[in-house]
Amino acid sequence: MKTIVIVSQKGGTGKTTLAIHLAVAAERKRLSAVIIDLDPQASATAWRDLRAAKGPAVESVQPARLAATLAAAEKAGARPRLHRHASPQ
Ligand SMILES: Nc1ncnc2c1ncn2[C@@H]1O[C@H](COP(=O)(O)OP(=O)(O)OP(=O)(O)O)[C@@H](O)[C@H]1O
Ligand SMILES: [Mg+2]
Repeated sequence: MKTIVIVSQKGGTGKTTLAIHLAVAAERKRLSAVIIDLDPQASATAWRDLRAAKGPAVESVQPARLAATLAAAEKAGARPRLHRHASPQ
């Protein structure tokens, strides 16, 4: 499993936009992708709510749960328990 971290203290610099685009691009390459949304604003999670397509999954996670969430993703082949679709395309 590959993990890409997108972090910037400054607001409005494109973190959410970049994360979403990378995840969609991965799914289009037939890779299974999950966005772990650590932002209390949960913008990526709200985007998931509006998206009709099955992938990518987005999990809204408190920072203290990041390590456990990554471990679960690794174990499940980047498909955590709450993943919204059963199998990669
Ligand atoms: N490469 C880009 N070119 C032009 N506009 C962009 C680009 N990336 C993001 N934007 C726009 O910039 C704005 C902020 O982007 P985004 O919400 O992704 O930033 P963010 O870093 O996640 O913000 P926040 O700190 O509030 O979470 C949005 O209106 C988005 O559409
Ligand atoms: Mg954001």
